[in-house]
Amino acid sequence: MKAAVYRRYGPPDVIRIEDVPTLDPSPNELLVRVRAASVSAGDARLRSACVPQGFGLVMRLAFGITGPRKPILGWDFAGEVAAVGSLVSGFASGERVFGARMGSHAEYVTVSTNSVAAMPRTLTFEDATALVFGGMTSLIYLRDKAKIQPGERVLINGASGAVGTAAVQLAKHFGAVVTGVCSASNAELVRSLGAARVIDYAKQDFTQSGEIYDIIVDAVGNCTFARCERALSPGGRLLLVVSSLGQTLGAMLRPSRAGRKVLAGVGATRAEDLRFLGSLAESGAFKPVVDRSYPFARIADAHAHVDTGHKRGNVVIALP
Ligand SMILES: NC(=O)c1ccc[n+]([C@@H]2O[C@H](COP(=O)([O-])OP(=O)(O)OC[C@H]3O[C@@H](n4cnc5c(N)ncnc54)[C@H](OP(=O)(O)O)[C@@H]3O)[C@@H](O)[C@H]2O)c1
Repeated sequence: MKAAVYRRYGPPDVIRIEDVPTLDPSPNELLVRVRAASVSAGDARLRSACVPQGFGLVMRLAFGITGPRKPILGWDFAGEVAAVGSLVSGFASGERVFGARMGSHAEYVTVSTNSVAAMPRTLTFEDATALVFGGMTSLIYLRDKAKIQPGERVLINGASGAVGTAAVQLAKHFGAVVTGVCSASNAELVRSLGAARVIDYAKQDFTQSGEIYDIIVDAVGNCTFARCERALSPGGRLLLVVSSLGQTLGAMLRPSRAGRKVLAGVGATRAEDLRFLGSLAESGAFKPVVDRSYPFARIADAHAHVDTGHKRGNVVIALP
């Protein structure tokens, strides 16, 4: 099969399309023919080995010291079931599915049934894959870590990215009153996704306005507890989607500070959460935002666009 392969860390042109052996699903897995996958901020970080401060050694120990141990990037996908493992039930060949599995920038991916679900019927492959990266991250942070409640005041810093566009919509779905922080050019988009207020980060520092929030989500990486403390209500939660190693350890060791919480870290994809995101998409409550779609052969261009740090929502690749 064809796959987008990187053999060393570096700029977008380290990615090459190569022939690699086709995969065999284990008895508990599906083989999925990938039709679309997103090129995420996470893929760009792994490709360039450019990770938040302090995580350099951790990342290289996990993914390869001198070069990538697993040469295929990509974490989410949408496609068609090509083969069903002998112990799998509930899926059939040809069924449209979406999910998460490292190595999705390829014609085929194998995936355990814990990380895949039937694709929302109303969505294209590109839209379905664009639900996963930001949607899973925002769900884990808002619902599981912060335990968001109806009526809470939620601020999303970086509201126009993949995580931000999902977080605005999910917070709104959970009944929160949402403020989005983004540039002026993305204000209309963020408002259209459900933000009651939008703050232009070039004109105003949200931590200095005197406004108070119950939850602050940082999807940019420029929020510390010291900077945000005054903007957090008593019992408020600061969600560090992007955090340095020091901040991550600090959040684990001392989550409670001055009656407020700092939460960081990662979470796992679950099939029931994919089904939840899919049902929201079918009802129109969660609209995946796709900035650009590139043909698979131009995946290096997709990486270059992600590297700008200014994509709107998601960048996806489409496979024939
Ligand atoms: N912890 C986890 O499990 C986890 C999971 C997923 C992602 N992440 C991390 O979360 C981060 C966000 O991911 P993403 O995919 O959402 O990134 P992204 O799509 O690349 O975000 C880009 C967006 O950020 C906005 N932005 C840039 N500077 C800003 C600023 N100073 N204030 C407000 N907005 C600003 C840009 O808007 P403008 O163009 O308008 O500037 C752009 O729309 C990444 O660092 C990623 O690695 C962590």
